[in-house]
This record gives sequence, C-alpha cells and structure tokens, in this order.
Amino acid sequence: MTLTELNERFAIGNHVQFKEIAEGMIVAEVANHHALANIALQGAHIATFQPRGEEPVIWLSPFAKFAPGKSIRGGVPICWPWFGPHKTDSKLPGHGFARTVPWEIFETKALPDGSTFLRFGLVESDVTRTQWPHPCTLQLSVTVGKSLRVELSTHNTGNAAFELGEALHTYFQISDVAKMTIRGLEDCAYLDKVQDFAHCTQKDGIVIESEVDRVYVNTAADCVIEDKGLKRAIRIAKQGSMSTVVWNPWTEKADKMGDFGENGHRGMVCVESGNAMENVVKLAPDETHKLVVVYSVEKL
Ligand code: BG6
Repeated sequence: MTLTELNERFAIGNHVQFKEIAEGMIVAEVANHHALANIALQGAHIATFQPRGEEPVIWLSPFAKFAPGKSIRGGVPICWPWFGPHKTDSKLPGHGFARTVPWEIFETKALPDGSTFLRFGLVESDVTRTQWPHPCTLQLSVTVGKSLRVELSTHNTGNAAFELGEALHTYFQISDVAKMTIRGLEDCAYLDKVQDFAHCTQKDGIVIESEVDRVYVNTAADCVIEDKGLKRAIRIAKQGSMSTVVWNPWTEKADKMGDFGENGHRGMVCVESGNAMENVVKLAPDETHKLVVVYSVEKL
C-alpha cells in the first residue's frame, strides 16, 4: 500500500498519521491526549513511547538505523519465532525474522477514553516461509494511552504442533544505570549468558555494574524498574510469558555494536518479556498463544 493509501484508509485525525521517515521506512505516528508513539511498519516495531508530561519510557538510540531489513536499535523489537540463536541452524538470524520483515496494518481505532488502538499483521513471504515452515499467523495489537499495552498473538493454522520462542525485547530509558534497580525477580532462577549459561538464583533487586545478559525462567511476575534519577518507576506487567530477559551490553560490547553511541548503554536497560529456553511454547493446531505486556509509569 502506498503512503497515500495508508493515510486514506487508516489515518485518524488527532490520533494516527503515516509518514515515510527514510526510504522504504513508513511509521505510524500516534499522538493523542495521553501520549506520543511511533511504530514502524517494518517489524511492527514500536520505536518510541512517551506519556505526555513524562520523559520517554522507551529508549531509542540516537544512532538507530532505519533501513529495510535492519533491526532498529531500541524501541520494542519483536523476537519471534525463536529467541536468541536458532536451535539447529546458526545461519538463521538471532531472535528470528519478525523484527526485520514487512508487516501490514489491519486496523486503527480511537478508543472512548482517548487512547489509540492499532493492529498489525506479519506479511508472509518466501523469506519467512523458508525460515519457518509452520503455517501460522502473527498479529500485534498496540494500545497507546497513559500506559502502553502490547499484545502479540500467534495462531497455528497448520495441522501439526510447533514450538515457539518469543520476546518483546523492550529497551527502557533510564536516567543512568547506576541509579536504577530492577525489582520483581528476587529468588528467581536464571541462566547467565555472561557465564556460559551458568544456572544461578537472583538474590536481591538487580543492580547493573557490568555486562548483564540473563534469562530468568519460570517467572510470571511483574517487574519494576526503579529509577532514582528520574524519580519514577516503570512497571512491566505481563501475561502469557514465563521468561524475563535482562540485558545491558556495557561499554565494550555496546562500542562494538556501533549503534549505541558513546556511553549509550548507561541510559538504557532491556527487560524483555517472553518465552525462551525451557519456557518455549508448544502450540497445537488451531491454538492461539497470546503474550500481553502493559508498560506504565509510577511515581517513586
Ligand atoms: C538479548 C540477548 O535479548 O538481546 C543478548 O540476551 C543480545 O545476548 C541482545 O546481545 C541484543 O541482540 P541484538 O540481536 O538485537 O543485537
């Protein structure tokens, strides 16, 4: 669909407009009474979310590249249909392909409370079919209000079961990594990728002082990012998710990635809600699995 057609069919005055921000990169710009947000059609990638009167909740690197086929550094990348490296084929992209392929918009709606609702669907193509031979549909529903609600829905349309790994790989904006603590994962078991997947148990709140890359398993708990610098807490409330990934690449790895900027890692942390490792989801024919996360801001 062209930009003009998209706007004719799906723009809503005072809620949603579509814009081309770089060649081949169209975003839905949402601006309503409660908040501002940008969602790229590639990857159905929520790039920004900022409740009015607040600092941005979602971190987007100032050096993020908006280019066809490239993952955007920051925002809410969708890891799907596997999390991390592919189980058997190391040539396939890490975190799956959903974040770098085109999606289409199915629906936009202004809700009675002033929020904006958008629904996207992944476009099947030879690229997706060769990497993932299981017939299914994938949709993302986003409600932009005072809080941000994200629902990722996978439906098995084939006649065989399959295993699904997934995550909303959300980057959060924080004042400084030294001023934040993540709560909600106390006593939870995790696999520490920095220590070759060592099995560990979280004792207290999570404080980050070096590279952190952990998959917390068997946890449905809310997480709260307490940020003393911004005097706020970000609550991450989830359903249909049994894993939480906490990631900060720290100086050396962030420098190598080339799209963080100098000290960029100090102003962000990823707290990812999903199903990974032993928590992958088995989806029988005609079954639907929903991963739902609500991000909201509380005073500290
Ligand atoms: C995290 C992984 O979820 O994503 C890390 O646990 C990885 O190992 C990070 O480095 C970023 O991945 P990418 O592919 O977006 O650079």
